[in-house]
Amino acid sequence: MTDVIEKPVGTGVIGVGLIGSYHATSLAQRLLGVRLVGLADAMPGVAERRATALGCAFWTSDYQELLRNPAVEAVVIATPAANHADAIVAAAQAGKAVFCEKPIANELADANRAIRAARDAGVILQIGFQRRFDRAFVRARRLVDTSKLGQIQLLRSVTRDPSLDRPERVSPWSIFRETLIHDIDVLRFLAGGAEPVEVYATADALILPDWKARGMLDTAVMTLRYDSGAMATADASFQAVYGYDVRAEVFGSEGMASVGESNSIDLIHHSRAGSTRTRPNWFLDVFGEAYTTELAHFVACVRGQAPLESTGEDGRAALVVALAAIRSVESHRPVRIDEIQP
Ligand SMILES: NC(=O)c1ccc[n+]([C@@H]2O[C@H](COP(=O)([O-])OP(=O)(O)OC[C@H]3O[C@@H](n4cnc5c(N)ncnc54)[C@H](O)[C@@H]3O)[C@@H](O)[C@H]2O)c1
Repeated sequence: MTDVIEKPVGTGVIGVGLIGSYHATSLAQRLLGVRLVGLADAMPGVAERRATALGCAFWTSDYQELLRNPAVEAVVIATPAANHADAIVAAAQAGKAVFCEKPIANELADANRAIRAARDAGVILQIGFQRRFDRAFVRARRLVDTSKLGQIQLLRSVTRDPSLDRPERVSPWSIFRETLIHDIDVLRFLAGGAEPVEVYATADALILPDWKARGMLDTAVMTLRYDSGAMATADASFQAVYGYDVRAEVFGSEGMASVGESNSIDLIHHSRAGSTRTRPNWFLDVFGEAYTTELAHFVACVRGQAPLESTGEDGRAALVVALAAIRSVESHRPVRIDEIQP
């Protein structure tokens, strides 16, 4: 029997800033079965610098040019959220399989047109919810799926970013659209198929109060009710002085699984000076492997070797909850999900 060596999937990256650079490096150096064909970034010089560093011969400041390259079968979109829907639509219409960073879009209408374009073109659309590919989250999900935790009753998710040193880069409501969107997705991922039906959220500027007038809220809490009756909470802060902090818990009638924290009753103290537990400081230290695994999964989907996980519909479902949370903050009341998406 001979092994069939498959042609690597030619892939381009649109937007090579912080996370796009990491994905481009994964495609060039960390993954098998894929080839980095080209990079596009609107900022002059950025794509060329990254491409040269990665030994990639094609770069452009116009992503349409990348989409016209026949060697590009698939694209990774890592531009800011406001551009995601346009880039997904353009890539789908060019017949490329699409991996797009979260959030799928800032607005529901944009998410809808992105999903429609991918469906009409018959191309894959995967959204970058990398926690679904993290080993610990995958194991927690397996416990839920195999009923080891019984009936799911309570869920919890926490995200604390290390620092808010460049507040001018943070757009209003991004604590929900960009940060808690991860928690919202995890709270769907671990809920055993239950879907959120109601959200109550509160948010404030506790780290940089002066920025509140500009709409920049840096601290938020939300509670969810599910169609199963289960309840969940999530909270986020843009500044944990001790470093990057992501945790989750799923609790059911037969047990509990927690990700990212110790079950010891010892005091845990994290501060600027250090921690009583060794802990990571940076999101790439926590999720570096998951970012690579999600792209490996994308490549397997492009080859037809795996069922799609973290779909455009998952991206839209999380966005709908985030939009309901924003409305809840604005109106100081619980908001039903069907107010946002009937
Ligand atoms: N999954 C995760 O954990 C995770 C982590 C970080 C960022 N993200 C997401 O990835 C996206 C990018 O975030 P980032 O932190 O890398 O941002 P960034 O600002 O570092 O990079 C964005 C890049 O896109 C380029 N760009 C902007 N408009 C463009 C266009 N029209 N065409 C081509 N290039 C364009 C910019 O020049 C920049 O280089 C955001 O949606 C963010 O939420 C996800």
